Amino acid sequence: MTLDVKSLRSVVRGVGSCLPKRSVSNAELESMVETSDEWIVQRTGILQRHVAADGETTSTLASGAARAALAAAGCEPSDIDLIVLATSTPDLTFPATATLVQAGLGMTQGAAFDVQAVCAGFVFAVAIADNFLRSGSHRRALVIGAETFSRILDWNDRSTCVLFGDGAGAIVLEAEPGTGAVADRGVLTSQLRTDGRYRSKLFVDGGPSTTKTVGHLRMEGREVFRFAVGMVSDVVEAAFAATGTTAQDLDWFVPHQANRRIIDASADRLGIAPQKVVTTVQMHANTSAASIPLALAVACADGRIKRGHLVMIEAMGGGFAWGSALIRW
Ligand code: ACO
Repeated sequence: MTLDVKSLRSVVRGVGSCLPKRSVSNAELESMVETSDEWIVQRTGILQRHVAADGETTSTLASGAARAALAAAGCEPSDIDLIVLATSTPDLTFPATATLVQAGLGMTQGAAFDVQAVCAGFVFAVAIADNFLRSGSHRRALVIGAETFSRILDWNDRSTCVLFGDGAGAIVLEAEPGTGAVADRGVLTSQLRTDGRYRSKLFVDGGPSTTKTVGHLRMEGREVFRFAVGMVSDVVEAAFAATGTTAQDLDWFVPHQANRRIIDASADRLGIAPQKVVTTVQMHANTSAASIPLALAVACADGRIKRGHLVMIEAMGGGFAWGSALIRW
């Protein structure tokens, strides 16, 4: 069937997630670095995080999330012709982790590639897949956010190692005719930004072309916090302006899960009611590109997000890179 390219929308068909088996409490971290459950909870809202075991990798978690999303969508791997996988912790320098997932799913058709926008990676991946689907070049996409940040943490640095966790989430997007109106189901707008001048505030101090090592995450936490609320508010406001919607129209706000205080301050500044905010940072910590699809999976599974609901996702992280997408479920 030929679709009318002008009116195509990328509609969410299913959501899935996968977490490492092992969860690590704040109390367990107290035995590794000089920290306390009280400090972590007060500063971040984090109660626990999942940490990958040997043999659990970004691609195995991503494959688990992809299978769960396919099942929720009622799709087979043979129905998919595009995989866009957001990660900053690939299994290998190359090939792309997306191709490992493709092979794991038994797919030989279509195209699979990785996207690197750190914590904003899933929003970037949604925007990329949406553009492919609306162009008519591809029909059904797996969009995945998957990370094993535990592998790039300096476990002696208490200011970073308590903040992050591992996991993966995925959605199936399908091109479907729409009307062009904001009442359409699907991705209604995406807003992406980067500014490389902020590199030193949040980065990994290694890489193939520099140190020839993987490196460790380094962050000026207070500085990142200072920029985060303003940057995410800007891209959420831009999404409202692009679609003629307001905070009151939202059913759910699903922000990147970095820190409870950033989430609360952003929602407050945007005038989004607290009961519309999906928060999973307490269970997962900051899983970078995986945090939004993990939160979407929780809120879909428990019945909060329903078909027809208006859902805003947003994220900001290393680069800096930040973005938002407004999706009618
Ligand atoms: N346990 C106990 N004490 C700690 C710990 C710890 N794990 N880490 C740092 N401290 C100490 C510091 O050494 C410092 O001690 P001092 O006053 O004696 O020097 C004190 O706690 C305060 O440190 P700050 O870094 O100023 O603490 P702050 O209140 O800024 O909180 C935090 C730190 C949680 C990192 C905060 O700045 C933050 O959330 N920043 C945003 C960063 C973030 O979430 N990044 C994720 C990636 S980007 C993104 O996703 C948006």
